[in-house]
Amino acid sequence: MKRTKVDFGYLQERKRSGEKITMLTAYDFPTAKLLDEAGIETILVGDSASNVVLGYPDTVPVSLDELLVLVRAVRRGVKHAMLIGDMPFGSYNVSTEQAIANGVRFMKEGGCEAVKLEGGGPMIPKIKAMTDAGIPMVGHLGLTPQTASLIGGYKVQGNTAKKAQAIIDDAKAIAAAGAIMLVLECVPGRVGGIIAKEIGIPVIGIGAGVEVDGQVLVLHDMLGFNLSFAPKFLKTYARLGPKITRAAKQYIAEVKAKKFPDDAHSFNINDTEFGKLYGGNA
Ligand code: KIV
Repeated sequence: MKRTKVDFGYLQERKRSGEKITMLTAYDFPTAKLLDEAGIETILVGDSASNVVLGYPDTVPVSLDELLVLVRAVRRGVKHAMLIGDMPFGSYNVSTEQAIANGVRFMKEGGCEAVKLEGGGPMIPKIKAMTDAGIPMVGHLGLTPQTASLIGGYKVQGNTAKKAQAIIDDAKAIAAAGAIMLVLECVPGRVGGIIAKEIGIPVIGIGAGVEVDGQVLVLHDMLGFNLSFAPKFLKTYARLGPKITRAAKQYIAEVKAKKFPDDAHSFNINDTEFGKLYGGNA
């Protein structure tokens, strides 16, 4: 079946029809290619790269330049999915001019088709200014990991009427500012459902229940690289961590025991040629 290139119109049509939209993160060429070929509709080069692939303790340290290297690798692997770049902490917080300049870098240097930033309130005029500058914007509300320390840590957000209303208001303002999509992280399912109903742009949830317009997970989490990371919203679809450890241990044991490489994995030289080496004394 011929696949269409995912654009804003495609996503709007899925929202209208009620067909759920799929998103995963990716950080390198080969996995991005596999996800794209599998039919994923949107790929986010998340600032989660900071902890899941670069080994920092959380999402704050990763720089724009570090992320751009990953974005360009992912771009080379993606043909059909919409590619979204995630603005790291510090790349849009200083000023609107900084936010626009760095959003442009994601598009020109990274080949992104949209750019995501975290937060409501003071971030909303930036989303509008970036949209006006021609950058398709994705909002991110609920649990915003870059500012987790300001919102009480990595916790469910919007679980009182007042807090839920604040998120709903921000979501409406982000949509009115011209964003093309909203990521909603760790909010009660019923609050996610209200937001998806009340705003006209697709709402993609991570820990936001089934009533939103689509779902996103961090690739390394859903593939089970680190099984000790097990938040309630996460479903692990594979257990690659133990598989990789098992494969590495088997390799180490076989190399030590001279079982690898065996004949099947070695190259040969015929006896005549070998005999000529060192005047036949090899
Ligand atoms: O950085 C990321 O991976 C994200 C997702 C959790 C949506 O922002």
